[in-house]
This record gives sequence, structure tokens and C-alpha cells, in this order.
Amino acid sequence: MQLLDCMEVIPEAMAQIRSNGGAFLTVSAGDDINTMTIGWATIGFVWGRQIMCVLVRKTRHTYGIIERSRDFTVSIPLTGMRKELEYCGTKSGKSQNKFTGCGLDLIPSVKAHTPVINCVGIHYECKIVYKSAMEAGGLIEEYQHLYPLKDYHTIYYGEIMQCYSTMEEIKVEKSKS
Ligand SMILES: Cc1cc2nc3c(=O)[nH]c(=O)nc-3n(C[C@H](O)[C@H](O)[C@H](O)COP(=O)(O)O)c2cc1C
Repeated sequence: MQLLDCMEVIPEAMAQIRSNGGAFLTVSAGDDINTMTIGWATIGFVWGRQIMCVLVRKTRHTYGIIERSRDFTVSIPLTGMRKELEYCGTKSGKSQNKFTGCGLDLIPSVKAHTPVINCVGIHYECKIVYKSAMEAGGLIEEYQHLYPLKDYHTIYYGEIMQCYSTMEEIKVEKSKS
């Protein structure tokens, strides 16, 4: 694991999200854990802190978990994983375990309760410090077509507690049962 300056790696991180089909947003609360693909995220300074914002629609299984969570992680694969990103961006954790469904492993985070995806990539561990449900009236007309079902996002502001890259997958002991 190599610690990264999360601001320095923004260009690489965003380029990967755009060209590679997204990133994994992982959430957990109690025994519940889920991951879904995200294509939209921002990183910058707010409240004098390094903040990552992710947007989750209320219709996602992820929403019910992140609402009870104190943190989230974002894992940006650097070596493809398009199949897994496609899977986690089209299947719902409501009806299946997506980790076993597409062979994704988790590894413990350094600071967050929520683990990160075991992949070659850039990982962000974020503490939720604020959330804001979008209000329809606040969005300009030009963007309204992005919400034909009126399922507006909730935006979660996560203070970046840890940012690092993993250059190889960690060996995970598979359960024998
Ligand atoms: C490339 C891509 C990007 C996506 N970005 C987002 C996003 O930023 N926010 C969101 O709510 N859903 C996004 N989605 C849709 C969710 O990943 C998808 O609905 C997923 O099945 C939700 O899983 P869940 O029900 O287990 O939470 C994206 C899907 C894809 C394929």
C-alpha cells in the first residue's frame, strides 16, 4: 500500500472513473454491506478539509445502508474490472450478494469501518460529515432530464481520512464453507 496525496491524484482518479466505467462505492452499517458503481464524484476543499462527494439515488439498495453508515469507501480500479463495474452498476444488492455474484473480495480499511474492494487501484476512506438531499426546484431546467423518474440524489460529503493505492491484490483467505 502506498499513501497518496488525494489532491495530487485527482486527474488520474477522475480520468480512470470516466474512461473505465466508474468506481466502486462501498457502504456498510452493522452487518449490512454493499457496493455499487458510481460515475459521478467530486473531490475538493470544504470546511478547510479534503472532501469527497458521492451522489446516491434513494432507489438504490446502497441508499438504505449509507443512511445508517458513518463512513464510505471509494475504490477506483486501475486495471480494468469493467465486467465487475458493469455488474455492480446494473444489479442490486436488494436481491443478491454482489460480492459473491461477481467474485469481489473486500479488505479491511485503515481508518474506516467500511472495507475497500480488493483490487489494484486508488482507494479513498471517507467519514460522512454532511449529507444533502437534492431539491427538484434547485436544479436548472437543462439538467432535469437526468431525473425522468424524479428520483433525485442525496449527496454525501465524506472527509477523506485515508487515500492510497494498492499495486497488487491482497491474498484473501477464502472461507471453506
Ligand atoms: C457507470 C455507472 C455509473 C453510475 N453512477 C451512479 C451514481 O453516481 N449514483 C447512483 O445513485 N447510481 C449510479 N449508477 C447506478 C447504480 O450503480 C445501479 O443502480 C446499481 O445497480 C445500484 O445498486 P444497489 O441497488 O445495490 O445499490 C451508476 C451505474 C453505472 C453503470
